[in-house]
Amino acid sequence: MLIIKNIKSINSKINSLKRSGRSIGFVPTMGALHEGHLSIMRRARRQNDIVVVSVFVNPKQFGLNEDFARYPRQEKKDHLLAKKEKVDIIFYPSIEEIYPTRYLTYINVEGISRILCGHDRPVHFKGVTTIVGKLLNLVRPDNLYLGQKDAQQVIVLRKMIVDLNFPVKVRVCPIVREPDGLALSSRNKYLTNQQRLESPVLFQALKKAKIKALKENVSVKGVLNLMKSNITKNSSGSIDYIACVDADSLVPLDVIKGRVMIALAVKFGKTRLIDNIVFRKDDGKKK
Ligand code: PAF
Repeated sequence: MLIIKNIKSINSKINSLKRSGRSIGFVPTMGALHEGHLSIMRRARRQNDIVVVSVFVNPKQFGLNEDFARYPRQEKKDHLLAKKEKVDIIFYPSIEEIYPTRYLTYINVEGISRILCGHDRPVHFKGVTTIVGKLLNLVRPDNLYLGQKDAQQVIVLRKMIVDLNFPVKVRVCPIVREPDGLALSSRNKYLTNQQRLESPVLFQALKKAKIKALKENVSVKGVLNLMKSNITKNSSGSIDYIACVDADSLVPLDVIKGRVMIALAVKFGKTRLIDNIVFRKDDGKKK
């Protein structure tokens, strides 16, 4: 596995791979790799000649009072994990390499970057689109692999890719969960023992919401209220948002119909966890 730390070297390596006509699968990460990332790497491995993983804790996607400084960093362990998954190249740039002094250019997907998670984290998605745009220019992959856990990130990045004509296919990989249902996340490490015990309530609430939502004549409000009471009664979590939206556009639903996503963000102390569930509800009428 090749470890590349600067832009000059990634450019020349990608140039030669492109000349040889090999397909490139790209998995962008912020490191602290866990089974969720590894399952994405395995899929990329199966579908491409070359797999490139980036590890970069992107300061531009963290707000001032967020966890940039304490975000887990484990360079050596990440290298070993990526090597085990037969990753070909790990791109590990420094902050100065990516954002040199007097850096001024950003990518912003309007509207959908400021709702749901973007409401509480106003700079987050602008930071994500900027870094992923830059990485796509550097790695020039055929396939970009993203995790469904960050469902809004997937939708915002898809929009950027369409609007700015990046020649890449987006491959979305399923959420990987602990046996008790907690979605894997690098931030789970922050949870206290008590918070960790309570955290499966999020997926339980999502599953119950889906069961209710699939019944006839159920209102969005009814489903969201059920979730709220489920979470507040059974945990110390404080709800940032729970939303029932169209799974492709993020438009809030008045009626539960079509490809539906129920998404949430809940804080346990300072730790903000997100999760979601996607399902189809048809109105039963023959088309
Ligand atoms: O999902 C993440 O880990 C990050 O938001 C990403 C896509 C690597 C951009 O920094």
